[in-house]
Amino acid sequence: CGIVGYIGHRDAWPVLIKGLKQLEYRGYDSAGIALLEDKIVINKSKGKVADLELKTEGSQFQSKIGIGHTRWATHGEPNDINAHPHYSGNQKLAIIHNGIIENYQAIKEALLLKGHQFVSDTDTEILIHLIEEIQLRTKFDLQEAVRAALKQVIGAYALVILNEDNPGQLIAARKGSPLVIGVGKGEYFIASDATPILEYTRNIIYLNDDEIASINYDSLEVVNLDNDVQVPYIHELEMEIELIEKNGYEHFMLKEIHEQPRSIKDSMRGRIYPLDGRVELGGLKEYAEKLKNIKRIIIVSCGTSWHAGLIAEYLFEKYARIPVEVEYASEFRYRNPIIDKSDLVIAISQSGETADTLAALSIAGLKGATLFGVCNVVGSSIPRMTHAGVYTHAGPEIGVASTKAFTSQVTVLTLMALYVAQQRDVLSKQKMQELLTELEKLPDLVETTLKCEDNVKKIAGIIKNANNCIFLGRGSAFPVALEGALKLKEISYIHAEGYPAAEMKHGPIALIDEQMPVVFIATNHSSYEKVISNIQEVKARKGMVISVISEGDLKVKAMSDHTIEIPVTNELLLPVLASIPLQLLAYHIAVMRNCNVDQPRNLAKSVTVE
Ligand code: G6P
Repeated sequence: CGIVGYIGHRDAWPVLIKGLKQLEYRGYDSAGIALLEDKIVINKSKGKVADLELKTEGSQFQSKIGIGHTRWATHGEPNDINAHPHYSGNQKLAIIHNGIIENYQAIKEALLLKGHQFVSDTDTEILIHLIEEIQLRTKFDLQEAVRAALKQVIGAYALVILNEDNPGQLIAARKGSPLVIGVGKGEYFIASDATPILEYTRNIIYLNDDEIASINYDSLEVVNLDNDVQVPYIHELEMEIELIEKNGYEHFMLKEIHEQPRSIKDSMRGRIYPLDGRVELGGLKEYAEKLKNIKRIIIVSCGTSWHAGLIAEYLFEKYARIPVEVEYASEFRYRNPIIDKSDLVIAISQSGETADTLAALSIAGLKGATLFGVCNVVGSSIPRMTHAGVYTHAGPEIGVASTKAFTSQVTVLTLMALYVAQQRDVLSKQKMQELLTELEKLPDLVETTLKCEDNVKKIAGIIKNANNCIFLGRGSAFPVALEGALKLKEISYIHAEGYPAAEMKHGPIALIDEQMPVVFIATNHSSYEKVISNIQEVKARKGMVISVISEGDLKVKAMSDHTIEIPVTNELLLPVLASIPLQLLAYHIAVMRNCNVDQPRNLAKSVTVE
C-alpha cells in the first residue's frame, strides 16, 4: 500500500492526490484521503486514484493538513468501505495504515465487549478504535495513546493519524513497513517512499522501526516505544526528477526497458577496472577478508529478485567456486534453516522492504551468518539491517513489472561473483581482465539488443492471442526463461511457464501442439547443441518455436518459426542480454491485449506484508 501525509502552508488535497498517483504502483485497488476542515472529512473510493478524483470532482477543499492512502487489499475485499482512511468510533481520529495487525481478532473481540462497532472488515479500523479506547480510558494525549496501542500490537505497520482535537498535528509510526518524512520549510511530507516528496524537498528522514513521530506545522519530535526521545538524522537525497516521470514514453515499463543501457552503466560505475583485472565494491570492503573463509552462500529473495538469485547461483559457482543455495524468503523463514557463522546470506530486493525477505534475513542474522544486501532503494530496511551490501543504482523503478531493476541486480551480482572470486584468488588476473573487458561492453550491447524491438513487436502480434506459452533455457538461461514467463503472465495474463529446457520432456511436452508458442533461449553458449535437440523435440510436436539466438546463427534460425537476434558475447553477459527481448515481448503482447501494463491487476510493486 502507499501512504502520504501533508502538513504545511499548501492546500493538502492536490499534494495528496499527486502523491497517491506517484505511489499507486504500491497498490491500486482503492484510494482515500482524510482532510481536517472544521472536522475530519474522508473521501474514499474503490479503484484507482483517478476514480477518487472523479468521485470528488467539483468539491472545494481548504485544508492544509491531511492523509491519503492507496491500497493493496489484505483484510477485506477492495471496496469503498474497506478503503482507507478509517475512523475511530467518535470520528475524531482518522488513520491510514500499511501492513498487517496479526492479533487484530483478539483486539477486536475485546473492543466489541466494550461496545465498539466496526463498519469495515479491516485490521486497520480495529487499531484506530484501540487507540481511541486507550484515550478514553486514560486521558492520554494522542502520541501516548498510540504508543500504548502499538505496544499491544503484533505485526507490521506504517501508519499516520489525523486528530480532530489537535488540528495542527499528525502522528506517524512504523514497524516493518517503510515510512519517510520529508522536511520542507514550514511543511512536512510523509510517504511510503521518497518518490512523492522529491519535488518539494530532498531532506528526508527515514523513520526507524518502533519510532513514533509527532509532526506539527513547525516542529517534529520522534520517540521510541519506551518514550525515549530519538534524534532523527536528515539525509539529503540525490535523485533526478526525470527518473520518476514518463518522458514521452507511453508506459513507465517501456521507458524503464529503454533506460537499461544507462541503468546498467550506473550499476557498474566506478566498480570495474578491466586493465587491472580488478573489481572494487566499496560496500563490501570491510568484509573482503571474511569472504576468504565463507563456506557457503545462501541467497534469499522473492519474485523477480529470486530469479536474479538463481542466475547468481550459476555465476558464483562458476567463477568463485563456492556452493550457493537460492531460497524463496517466505519458505526459508519458516523452515528452521541450518545456518552457522561460516555462511554468507545475501538478500536481493529491489525495494529493500519485502516483508518475507526482511524476516529471512533476521533469522539468518540470529544464527550468526554474515548478511549482505543487494538493493535498489537507498536507505531502505534491508541495507540498514545487513552488515554490508551493494546498491544496484538502477534509479527508481515505477512499472510494477520489474525490468531495469532486475538487469541491474544481475549486473551487480555478476560483479559480486567476480569480487568473491578475486578475494578467494580462484581466477587468474588474465581471466579477470578478459571477463571485465567483456562486462564493460554490456551497456552498449544492451543498446544494440534493444534494436530487436520492431522484430519482437511483429512476433508479439503473432502470438498475442495464445492462452499459454512456455519459456525454455539451460544453465544461466534457465532463470532467464523463468523471468520471461513471469513477465508475460504478470502483465498480459497469458499463462506462461519457464522450465529448464531438458525438463520439458518430463511434463510440459504434453502441452505442446500447434497453438503453443515455445520461446527458447538458444544462444551459442554451453549446452547449445543440447538446446537444439530440445527445439527438435518441440518441432516434432508441431509447437511454434521462437528462439532468442546469437546474431548470425543460421542453424537455429532454420529450425525456428521466428528468431530474435542478440549480439554474440561471452556467456557471462547472456542473462542480461537475453532478458531484454523477453521484456519487450511481454510488454508488446500486453499492450496489444489492452492490459494495464504499469499496474497489472492484483499485483503491487512492494509487498510489505507476508
Ligand atoms: C513484488 C513485485 C515484484 C518483485 C517482488 C520482490 O511481487 O511485484 O516485481 O520482484 O515483489 O520485491 P523486491 O523489492 O524484494 O525485489
